Amino acid sequence: MHTVIPDYNMKMQNTFRMNVSCKGWIEYTDASDLPGIIATLGDTDFIHIGQGSNMLFLGNYNGSVLHSRILTLETSPGENATTLVRAGAGISMDSLIEHTCGAGLWGLENLSGIPGEVGASAVQNVGAYGVEAKDAIVSVDCYDTFERRFVTLSNSDCKFGYRDSLFKSAEFKGRYIVTHVTYRLSASGCPVLDYGHLNDCFDNVSTLTPSLVRNRILEIRSKKLPDVEKVGSAGSFFKNPVVDAETHADFVQRVKTVLGSDATAPAFKVGECYKLSAAWLIDRAGLKGYQIGNVATWHTQPLVIVNATGKASPEEVLQLENLIIERVRDTFGITLHPEVEHID
Ligand code: EPU
Repeated sequence: MHTVIPDYNMKMQNTFRMNVSCKGWIEYTDASDLPGIIATLGDTDFIHIGQGSNMLFLGNYNGSVLHSRILTLETSPGENATTLVRAGAGISMDSLIEHTCGAGLWGLENLSGIPGEVGASAVQNVGAYGVEAKDAIVSVDCYDTFERRFVTLSNSDCKFGYRDSLFKSAEFKGRYIVTHVTYRLSASGCPVLDYGHLNDCFDNVSTLTPSLVRNRILEIRSKKLPDVEKVGSAGSFFKNPVVDAETHADFVQRVKTVLGSDATAPAFKVGECYKLSAAWLIDRAGLKGYQIGNVATWHTQPLVIVNATGKASPEEVLQLENLIIERVRDTFGITLHPEVEHID
């Protein structure tokens, strides 16, 4: 079944709470609705969104916006005593994780508290605390809007990377609509506690349960990140920059010049490259808790741009985005790139 609402205000459909509208808002409850919906749309513009938690609408959208309300959840036994969980794309990721943790299944607990829906977990390869969705995803069921048929993509077909996948690539963007994601979870999996000092939070790791880790992650997140129910934001606004060894060496010197000869910056080796901390760069560029007009960087995690007053416009967000990029580049010689998708 599907519903179509013309001239729809999407303020509550994007977590940044931008006051924008679309020509048509289309929600559907079953994958079998998609062939008819796509055929009816013909050549008119459309996008598909989840909870709208990783996007910035730059103005009213002059086309249709599709949203999945596929909420089915099926479990079946997998290889080596694992459990396969096939979830509808419209399920909120956090309610899925609450459910799997409650069932004693390991694999998704570190992703607790991330806003967004199951479909977007695959598109965006969401990640937190040393785990990415791709670590648990077995396959992704989609509707191919080009060939007008249903397909199942394996984990390797999805070409997952850091906050990246085939679904975001220039070649395939907009082509596949995710209908279901299948995750492989395990009752005997081991917790991933090596990010930051997560390990220090627990006295006895052998008695841990997925729900205990989930609760700890939710506690950490609530101290650092704004609650999207209360303050509009799209989570991390920028990606952590990955730079080559030469750029990293220049950066290390620049940090000493700017902050003093003892100063060091966090950097994590990724293959031959280094992943830098965008939060650290913004913080040390003096922009933590920085506000212009209705927008600001969050006071405990400056990687997050917030709609501080609830009245921010897309232009104000863009203004702060550009100011941050310029200030970080001028201070440290590093260029930040937004993680949040801009939609015009
Ligand atoms: N830091 C500062 N100042 C601050 C906050 C952080 O200097 O005010 C530095 C610290 O050095 C800290 C480092 O930044 O150790 C990393 O901070 P954090 O652990 O919060 O992680 P992050 O790299 O900033 C990433 C994800 C988050 C995810 C966290 C935890 C990206 C773009 N962001 O942030 O994801 O929750 O790790 O795993 O990769 C999101 O994608 O929306 C998101 C919130």
